[in-house]
Amino acid sequence: MSDFKRYTVTSALPYANGPVHIGHLAGVYIPADIYVRYLRGKGKDVVFIGGSDEHGVPITIKARNEGITPQDVVDKYHGIIKKSFGEFGISFDVYSRTTSETHHKTASEFFKKLHAEGKFIEKTSEQYYDEEAKQFLADRYIMGTCPHCNNEEAYGDQCEKCGTSLSPLDLINPKSTLSGSKPVKKETKHWYLPLDKDEEFLKQWILEDHKEWKPNVYGQCKSWLDSGLHPRAVSRDLSWGVPVPVEGADGKVLYVWFDAPIGYISNTIEWAAAKGKDWKPYWQDKESKLVHFIGKDNIVFHCIIFPSMLKAHGDYILPDNVPGNEFLNLENDKISTSKNWAVWLHEYLVDFPEKQDVLRYVLAANMPESKDNDFTWKDFQARNNNELVAIFGNFVNRSAVLTQKYYDGKVPALGELSNYDKETITELESIKGKIEKSLETFRFREALKEAMALARLGNKYLADTEPWKVVKIDTVRVETIMNISLQITANLSIAFEPFLPFTTEKIRTILNIDKFNWEQLGATDLLPAGHVVAKPFLLFDKIEDAEIEAQMNKLLESKKLNEAKNSVATPAKAEMTFDDFTKLDIRTGTILEAEKVPKTKKLLKLLVDTGIDKRTVVSGIAESYKAEDIIGKKVSILLNLAPRKIKGIESQGMILMAENHNGELGFISNEKDFNSGSVIS
Ligand code: MF3
Ligand code: ZN
Repeated sequence: MSDFKRYTVTSALPYANGPVHIGHLAGVYIPADIYVRYLRGKGKDVVFIGGSDEHGVPITIKARNEGITPQDVVDKYHGIIKKSFGEFGISFDVYSRTTSETHHKTASEFFKKLHAEGKFIEKTSEQYYDEEAKQFLADRYIMGTCPHCNNEEAYGDQCEKCGTSLSPLDLINPKSTLSGSKPVKKETKHWYLPLDKDEEFLKQWILEDHKEWKPNVYGQCKSWLDSGLHPRAVSRDLSWGVPVPVEGADGKVLYVWFDAPIGYISNTIEWAAAKGKDWKPYWQDKESKLVHFIGKDNIVFHCIIFPSMLKAHGDYILPDNVPGNEFLNLENDKISTSKNWAVWLHEYLVDFPEKQDVLRYVLAANMPESKDNDFTWKDFQARNNNELVAIFGNFVNRSAVLTQKYYDGKVPALGELSNYDKETITELESIKGKIEKSLETFRFREALKEAMALARLGNKYLADTEPWKVVKIDTVRVETIMNISLQITANLSIAFEPFLPFTTEKIRTILNIDKFNWEQLGATDLLPAGHVVAKPFLLFDKIEDAEIEAQMNKLLESKKLNEAKNSVATPAKAEMTFDDFTKLDIRTGTILEAEKVPKTKKLLKLLVDTGIDKRTVVSGIAESYKAEDIIGKKVSILLNLAPRKIKGIESQGMILMAENHNGELGFISNEKDFNSGSVIS
């Protein structure tokens, strides 16, 4: 590791407009936490910065929808998010928020300096204004018809039906969602960061000087840079945010993506003040390594815009690396807050109390490092049962239990080493370097595998050496075996400290030891002979099928609810008279025969007993029912519909069906199962 004097590690500030889910954890906070725990283990000077991003339009929309203030929204979610991170052991040195006084002051001053030094360009443009609500409209506050697909409910920034990115001026028949009125175009002035002027600098700095960045991050930067940079507005007409701190900027705030990354600095300032430290070296000394952990939707802001801001300011260092991850899916579907397709951290802990490390393990193992990846409950169960319980937990438990059984908990002395012992120790010694290499290049899945290799090594060592058999013939040999097993167990408490901090704490309790530092990883003298270990308990428990089924059912419920929500109610039909209704001759019938109409997808030819005759009906139900499954079914049939020829077959009537929004069909049947021919009215 090229040596830095100190480390400033940030993780994206989540928007405080909803709780956090497994996607956040896997993409950003777990890798960041693993990284800083590792650095701390090495005794490095590191500050780990987190916080909530509390500005931006979506927060104002949520507040409006719920009839509360934006401050109410962020107060609520900042608390929930902060608590979740704490519960999962994300070891921030500070977790503050962008509504803090320190942040408003820091962001304000940052803007003022750039403004005073002429680093912005000022431009006037036309934007939509709501004359009733007396305010300019953020893109999301305007709806209208999409010019591409005619969806009448497209937003000013995007049509969610066809996915096209839009500008509010593209919308046909724009409408303000605040008042419903038609917005008018009005001139407004904003400040722009001239990114185009930094294009050459950024090309050199990223594409030439930082070829070591992860390919997914590097690739996105390259495509931005290749397509050319343009000035970016850093202010908005909005009342929620950091006010633009210059004369004549009433009703304008800093764009959320301008103020939020400055939040990293603000939060460092708060942390340093509380610790009686100087914050500046962490952001301004060239010997500090600045690393931003983010998700892929944040890449451009952290690799291009924020660095351009920092450079314009002049006092700051630029990030040394931006290990951005792709996205985590859930059961093969995109995680979605609005669709409640997510595993929420606070809910997980209700269902799996004290199993933080199981989730940390599974998310680290499936981290979407180079491409989107999938979380499934089956995999969660399998990794818990087959890896954590059967290998890691089994090994630690056996070592501890046998030590109690043979030596009353006293660590036995190491005797003469067999070749197999020596090989095992060589393997043990090699693990540290492998984990380090992986972590320092941000390959967390690989690092976890290396740590797990140590648990596998221990488990295999005990299984192969079989002390429970040897004890009957050679007790001296068993002392060596148990000493080595216990040393491996102690090493696990070091190797897994970055990944599974709750588990390593448990191992320390079982072994009755304090925390080791990272550099001790690989040592075979961590536990001196004679040291007394504590009574063992299990590190992990098996997760049963029923628990997984319960989670799957929970997801299924979300899916159903969404489908119901998405189903647009069919508009009501025009009124009719009672006489109109009595013209319909509807009766119960029984399907006697059914067969597919050749060369059609939907049609079945049915023979129906109507109670007065048997008739042929062609029915478009083949996508919902198989012919062989419906023989004998009781149905409702409209008899006096004029016969129609369908695919050359005369259809004499119509089977009544219910249809849901997915186009799925279901028979209407009489719950009392009357004979064919009963009149329905
Ligand atoms: N709130 C943003 C998001 O969730 C991330 C902001 S990161 C920071 O996508 F740099 F702005 F802090
Ligand atoms: Zn569209």
